[in-house]
Amino acid sequence: MAMPMSVQTDLDQYIHDTLESQDVRRIGRFIAAVEPSELSNDLHPTRRKASAKQELEPIEALFQAGEELFETELAVVYGYGHEWTPQGPKMHRVHRGAKGGPDSFSCRSCHHRGGDDGAGEYNENALVAGDGVSVRSALERNPPPLQGAGLLQILASEVTAVLQNNISGPPPSEPTKIPLIVQDVDFGSVTRMPDGTIDTKDLHSIDPDLIVKPFGWKGTHSSLRRFAEEAFQVHHGMESSVLGWHRRFFGPQPMFASQATRDIMGAFSDGDPLDLDRDGVRGELSESMLTAISVYLALLPLPTIEPPRAPDLLTAYRQGQAAFHSVGCASCHKPMWILSSPTWIEQSEAQNSATRVTLDLRKDIRNGPPLRNRDAEIQGYPVLLFSDLRRHDMGSELSDPPPKTAKPSIAPSYFLTRPLWGLADSAPYLHDGRAVTVADAIKFHGGEAAESRRKYLALPVETQRALQVFLMSLSRASLPEVSQ
Ligand code: HEC
Ligand code: HEC
Repeated sequence: MAMPMSVQTDLDQYIHDTLESQDVRRIGRFIAAVEPSELSNDLHPTRRKASAKQELEPIEALFQAGEELFETELAVVYGYGHEWTPQGPKMHRVHRGAKGGPDSFSCRSCHHRGGDDGAGEYNENALVAGDGVSVRSALERNPPPLQGAGLLQILASEVTAVLQNNISGPPPSEPTKIPLIVQDVDFGSVTRMPDGTIDTKDLHSIDPDLIVKPFGWKGTHSSLRRFAEEAFQVHHGMESSVLGWHRRFFGPQPMFASQATRDIMGAFSDGDPLDLDRDGVRGELSESMLTAISVYLALLPLPTIEPPRAPDLLTAYRQGQAAFHSVGCASCHKPMWILSSPTWIEQSEAQNSATRVTLDLRKDIRNGPPLRNRDAEIQGYPVLLFSDLRRHDMGSELSDPPPKTAKPSIAPSYFLTRPLWGLADSAPYLHDGRAVTVADAIKFHGGEAAESRRKYLALPVETQRALQVFLMSLSRASLPEVSQ
């Protein structure tokens, strides 16, 4: 079949880039063999690219260093692992509580299915919060895809600002119930008290701090920086200098940290403050590395919607889209949010650091679709996310097992509405990766989604299939867009 000219050119360029990156990797392996510390220096962002001796603009330099960090197989020279023994690093496929693994050697090893920075296979599930030995003691978590992460971070921070604005100003003279509704999503309500306190006991869909946390299956993190920091710690045993510093001055409970990070800091409480995991390496994960990985994650391409071209499939797509609304999927998987500002400032946390990078998702996204133009009618940028950014009770069908010890901060049956953008390329589905098709994923919905599932199952089989055609059009861009 003849290929349109533009596709052919894209393809040539793509093959060229792929071969070139293979070469770079090959050379990298040789360098690692003769001079391992050379390679670890490469993980630190610099403006000068050694091979081309060409000045890079700061965002490009950070992006490249972040990509390197994401793909590198982390070894002892980088501070991999904890508590080295003469037998080598103690690997833990099953996490030991907050301490995690290490369970793998690179970010990429779990985030690759469906393409770069994608999802993970079922057998790559992280086995978190376990006893370090038995799989049954742990919670299974399937690696989600990472595309669009930057836009998700910015959107969540805008929604947080609106939520928090609801409770600002002087306290009311009598207890006042405040509904928390943003862009038609009902996050519940809180009650403001005359003494300035806020009663949040009726809140289930987000945390009492009213910060929308779009990352993690349970909605545990609001920033890519903190998520990546934790991922390095739990999967690779590489500890962040920032955490070490905070541990030293503020103890294990700093304000900014997520509950999971506080738990990690508590777990590593006794050693040398600069080498908490006692592997003899200090400064394993520097601030500039954290900035690089955050910039990298923030600038990953956005998922797209690619309806089928064949006329009968296109008809099915339209029917499926209508069914998505009529059976109530859209009530949780909100198709569109509106973003006001496409910029994000990634900032280093050290007091004397001047690193401050402003990312603009309209032009800075690499290797794929960026944010499209502002839509005058909706007065903002459409974000086709398919999530309401809330947590829901998904019933016994999807619940984690009852906790054995301390009560978890998020109830076992509550999960964040998973964004469905990029869905076609991110199987297997659900938090533990138990479903390989979307039809199966829908069948496991329970709790607040039970009614929607019932309506879906009552549809004629052709309409169910049409709904699946619609879902399969939520995908990654089909060909990488290559920069000229
Ligand atoms: C052993 C497999 C594994 C490795 C290695 C791994 N991840 Fe993940 N990643 C996961 C799992 C599982 C989740 C979901 C965790 C959860 O829900 O709490 C996740 C979630 C994420 C998320 C949040 C995505 C979202 O939409 O919720 C980011 C960002 C991320 N990982 C980045 C990284 C980075 C950066 C590295 C390397 C430092 C890394 N991951 C290494 C398994 C892995
Ligand atoms: C009450 C809210 C709610 C409703 C209604 C709902 N979902 Fe979900 N959906 C969720 C949550 C929460 C998850 C994540 C579950 C988990 O982590 O195991 C999810 C996960 C999914 C997934 C898996 C995504 C992935 O990446 O793993 C698919 C597919 C999906 N939903 C499709 C649908 C469809 C189609 C409908 C309508 C028939 C629907 N959902 C109705 C809340 C809902």
